[in-house]
Amino acid sequence: MTIGILGGGQLGYMLALAGYPLGLHFRFFDPSPEAPVGRIASRVTADFTDESALEKFANGLELVTYEFENVPFAAARFLSDRLLVLPPPTALEAAQDRLREKQLFQQLGIATTEFAPVLNREGLDSAIEKIGLPAILKTCRMGYDGKGQSVLRTATDVARAKNELPGRHSAGPRHSTRSRASHDQAPFVLERFVAFRRELSILAVRGRAGETAMYPLVENHHRNGILRLSLAPAPQLDPAIQRVAEDAAQRVFQALEYVGVLAIEFFDHEGRLLANEMAPRVHNSGHWTIEGAVTNQFENHLRAVMGLPLGSTDVIGSSAMLNLIGDVPDSAEVLAVRDAHLHLYGKTPRPGRKLGHITLRAASSEALAAQLAELPAFFRQPDFCLDTVLSRAPSRASAD
Ligand SMILES: Nc1ncnc2c1ncn2[C@@H]1O[C@H](COP(=O)(O)OP(=O)(O)O)[C@@H](O)[C@H]1O
Ligand SMILES: [Mg+2]
Repeated sequence: MTIGILGGGQLGYMLALAGYPLGLHFRFFDPSPEAPVGRIASRVTADFTDESALEKFANGLELVTYEFENVPFAAARFLSDRLLVLPPPTALEAAQDRLREKQLFQQLGIATTEFAPVLNREGLDSAIEKIGLPAILKTCRMGYDGKGQSVLRTATDVARAKNELPGRHSAGPRHSTRSRASHDQAPFVLERFVAFRRELSILAVRGRAGETAMYPLVENHHRNGILRLSLAPAPQLDPAIQRVAEDAAQRVFQALEYVGVLAIEFFDHEGRLLANEMAPRVHNSGHWTIEGAVTNQFENHLRAVMGLPLGSTDVIGSSAMLNLIGDVPDSAEVLAVRDAHLHLYGKTPRPGRKLGHITLRAASSEALAAQLAELPAFFRQPDFCLDTVLSRAPSRASAD
């Protein structure tokens, strides 16, 4: 049985690794000949707009899923006219546009930060009047890892942002595809800047018969918009907050008749959860599940789309996942740390590129803190956000 996967990055790579023990085969579709899955699976290298390549890709597949949410909707629809595509392409469509995504949250009664659409340079002032400063201006489409975002704090920031926005009479929004520009969708969204206490995300999975399973909320630390460290379960996790996150996932599941793994990112702000964005796929903040949960997110995604029973989402102790970005440590030094697990994706190093991750697993959060402190010097760089975690561990423990 062969499953087709749109996108051939590290998420696809780990999906395949989780699927091989289940006897599954994989075929990937990715425009880049450098895609990491080239190491381990067959693939079609072509543009997502190439219908004859999509046709060839679809031939003989059991079903299609995706590991990349910026797959053009038209490609997903083209495939769904021919075979089963899960999660449903409507989920892809909803998650591809930040404005649409926030509007969906709003319709479903899921709290978000305040936001306003921005069509062009002229529209920025009225959006600022509504939202206030500081705010974040984001492109609605194609952004990831903090790309396509600027924080506006001062009048100078606003003037600079205006310079980069298209004018009312310009040919069309630069960051939006032609098909989209004809709809009423704005190319930018302005959001109130949230001075959050912390960032949390939930990984949830829904099977074909509507059964669901939830992983515990994870605490995420970003640097320059890129995820650096996840702690799972999130320290000091209040069961009421977990319930709110699960309820949000259930609402999205119902609304989109969703099948597969879904990730929702939240800000924990003044005791409330504000949804920031969702991803209709497996997620970087769920990598810890490979070692830290009974069934990992990749296997559970495959179980869901295949119509197999979902696996337990119970955790095994406490885990920390650290992304390796732009550079990798010495493997031997990492593996010398007890219960440290190294994952390298086989990508050519480039600044800002996710090359791999490590997961540390321990019996308790205290033991985890001790293991984190044992990591080699490579991880002392401030980008790993380890300092914040290690410095607060003792004070929090004594406050309890
Ligand atoms: N409204 C906001 N207030 C404060 N910080 C934000 C806001 N939106 C985004 N950020 C920060 O930027 C990071 C990346 O933004 P996000 O919307 O998740 O886009 P993406 O992950 O697709 O690049 C977030 O994880 C958060 O750290
Ligand atoms: Mg994000």
